[in-house]
Amino acid sequence: MLPGRPAGRTFATTLTVAVRPVILCTMMLVSESRFALCVIALCGAGCAGPTGEPAGPAPVATTDVAEEPVNIAHRGASAYAPEHTLPAYALAIEMGADFVEQDLQLTRDGVLICMHDTTLDRTTNVEEVFPDRAIEVERRGARVQVWRVADFTLDEIKTLDAGSWFDDEFAGTQVPTFQEAIDLVKGQAGMYPETKAPEEYEALGFTMEEELTRVLAANELDTPAEQRETPIYVQSFSPESLKRMYALTRDTYDLVQLVGGAQAATLLTDDGLRDVAEYADGIGPAVQLIADEPSRAVAARGLGLEIHPYTVRASRLPDGFSDTGAYISHLVDDLGATGVFTDNPDLFPR
Ligand code: G3P
Ligand code: CA
Repeated sequence: MLPGRPAGRTFATTLTVAVRPVILCTMMLVSESRFALCVIALCGAGCAGPTGEPAGPAPVATTDVAEEPVNIAHRGASAYAPEHTLPAYALAIEMGADFVEQDLQLTRDGVLICMHDTTLDRTTNVEEVFPDRAIEVERRGARVQVWRVADFTLDEIKTLDAGSWFDDEFAGTQVPTFQEAIDLVKGQAGMYPETKAPEEYEALGFTMEEELTRVLAANELDTPAEQRETPIYVQSFSPESLKRMYALTRDTYDLVQLVGGAQAATLLTDDGLRDVAEYADGIGPAVQLIADEPSRAVAARGLGLEIHPYTVRASRLPDGFSDTGAYISHLVDDLGATGVFTDNPDLFPR
């Protein structure tokens, strides 16, 4: 972890639900934010009985709440370097990211690599190197050729150029393994792996969560000593995947349930959030979801869940914002975000 940069469990304060109102009152005094006012109202209602008396014994459940919002470099410093490459991760650390994100895929020989897509064609020159290895799939009603990660061995993937598509300056940059990402990031920032398409790999005979658990443990990232320097969040859009991580590792890692647009109708309801709080420590909603319905953020924070919305891009700010830092501050101060995924970690306000 960078000096003075709080991250994950290392700077988290363990709060009982009973003491949260005091902290939130402090939030109100300090920030006078609309979000703090909302949460105080909600928590006050939940912490007192109908007569205003305290509602019985304090719950035993505890939750970690970050003291400062965390700067999560989305796919590395991906506005400035090709996503999920070692140069993008190194730049993110240099720019002061608290966490560097890794989307994970599995090669044909079962090795975790860092790549967003389940296919190699968008971010590498696979089409040139292996022209005959495509498969045909249907996408948006059309038949298209794709080169699946799962059909290539690590040795084959290592022959690909994952940098030229972004800029000639990065020509020859390789796809990193998750182990190579750990070798680079460990000790300098937190890591934020995502299990991508775990059900597709399951159908091929791989259990991505087991391999992730194995690799993290092999690097001693399951120990409090290493997590002081390199805190870990594990994220997924798949509730089943996170539940499996929870079953495998219990409280070893902070787990974040990502929520895409279509999932909001189930996961962001009061019942849905309560279910998520059974196995996860936070939610990672598409930013528009909490912008459209701030009450969902209030409900999540009321359950002690962290909120890490994705993704802030300087190149695509919403109407009314021309400054990336101001927009991130809005997400934190007004909408209750406790961290933000951004392609521009250098613009995170401190
Ligand atoms: O994991 C947070 C964010 O990265 C989710 O979107 O598609 O970029 O993985 P995606
Ligand atoms: Ca991701």
